[in-house]
Formats: sequence, structure tokens, C-alpha cells
Amino acid sequence: MKTYTQNILQVLFICGVIGFFALWQRSSNAWDFIVYTQQWPEAACVDINDTKSSHHHICTMTRNIQTWTIHGIWPSRFDGDGPFYCDNSYPFQESEITNLENIMDNKWPNLIIGTAKTSFWKHEWTKHGTCALNLLDLDCEHKYFKMGLDLNKRFDYKHILEDRNITPSETRYKLADMREAIESFTKSKINMQCIFAKDKSEQAIVQVEVCLDKKFNTIDCKTRYKAIGILPSWDDIPYNPVFESCSENLPTQYLPFRYVN
Ligand SMILES: *[C@@H]1O[C@H](CO)[C@@H](O)[C@H](O)[C@H]1NC(C)=O
Repeated sequence: MKTYTQNILQVLFICGVIGFFALWQRSSNAWDFIVYTQQWPEAACVDINDTKSSHHHICTMTRNIQTWTIHGIWPSRFDGDGPFYCDNSYPFQESEITNLENIMDNKWPNLIIGTAKTSFWKHEWTKHGTCALNLLDLDCEHKYFKMGLDLNKRFDYKHILEDRNITPSETRYKLADMREAIESFTKSKINMQCIFAKDKSEQAIVQVEVCLDKKFNTIDCKTRYKAIGILPSWDDIPYNPVFESCSENLPTQYLPFRYVN
């Protein structure tokens, strides 16, 4: 038979363990899995031009951009977002990735006119890349960006969708058909984000998230939590898009490219 004191001690002990663990989770930069995020750049471009979400940025779509482009590799916790901005002693250095830049210009572009092409890379590095340093495969800047490019080749949504006759066009597709095409490739649940017509009568696919374990095997994504868009003052990203989950029911566009020249 337990005494009252024993019960109290037991509760205190359990709370202590949980509390310590929660504190450790938060203060350390521990994370559980990776969200690898790619964008359909034409839709991202429409969103950038949308004054509501972009503070009057203007997008440019050049002919070198022809497929899904990288947003980032995001270390994430099962119980929410982040961690973010884990190591400001390792700032973004363009010199580490000069041999990747030609490809990154096409596959990891900053679409905003009048901002440095490196500003997007710098943002992804400081916010997410510095949190991945504790994984051998991502333990320096060059590996982080090279991995982004490798995953872009592996998750080639353009061809995956094309195989199901889903192509950038004026056609309106069923979201379920797009999801099915991609998930039959990933063998795991993805998250899909859209931009929406002003009257909410239809949507356009803008972003796909695939979830990966620390060995880069696909795992099911959980339904997306809303991102908390807090940026520290030293992160000078010009634009921080937060897209909404696609509606399962609205007709879905896969916007064709409209190049500027
Ligand atoms: C964005 O705005 C620029 C400048 O008005 C325009 O040239 C471009 O076609 C627009 N892009 C999209 C996708 O709306």
C-alpha cells in the first residue's frame, strides 16, 4: 500500500522527467524528421505578385526555370514545427557552394526581382540548414544544398505527374488525382499547398512537402500545422510565403509557365 507521500513523490518524479525532457527538447535543437519542400514556381510567382502576401514584390519567370523548384530541407519535430535558426555562428557563405550555383539558379531560384539571388539560399540556410548540422549527411553548407539538388532529382514531380497525363495547362484537375500520382511514387502521405482564386472557386497547386526520416526514406507527413512566421531581425529574407493546405474539393490548376521574355 502506497502512502500519500510516496504518491506525491512519484508524481513529482514523473513531472520532473517530463518537464526536463520538454525543456531539453526546446533548448536543444533536437528534431525527428525532415520535410523536403518543393514549389511549382509559376504559382509561387503569382503569389509573390499578390500584394496582399508580398509587400509589393514582383516576380520574374525566366526560361531557365522549367520544373519544380526547391524551397528547402526542413528539420522538424513530430510535435510541431522547427527547430529554427539553430547556429548563427555558421553564417551562409556563397563561397561554399560556387560549384552548385549554376544548377541552383535553375532548381533553387529566388524569383523576386531586385533582390540578391543568394537571399533565398541564405534564408533557408540560417533558418533550417543550421538546424541540420547534427546529421552527418547535412553537416556543412555544401552538403545541405547538394542534398536539396539530389532530392529535386529524386522527387521529380513533373515527370511523375506527366506519366498520369497531368501537365501544366488550362485544365482543371482533381486534387485527389495529383495526390494519388505523387503518393504512389513516394509510398507515403504528402502535404500539398495551394493558392486560391479570389472567389475561392478554384485553386492552384503551389507546394508539395514530402517527409523523410534521417536516412532519407519517405515517411507519412502529418497534416500540416500552421507555420509560425517569426523572423529574427538578422534574417533579411525579402519574402516569407505561408501557403494554405489545398482544399480536397476545389478544381485544381497546374499553372502553365508564362515566361517574361
Ligand atoms: C508578375 O508581375 C510582373 C510585373 O507586373 C509581370 O511581368 C509578371 O508576368 C507577373 N507574373 C505572374 C505570374 O503573375
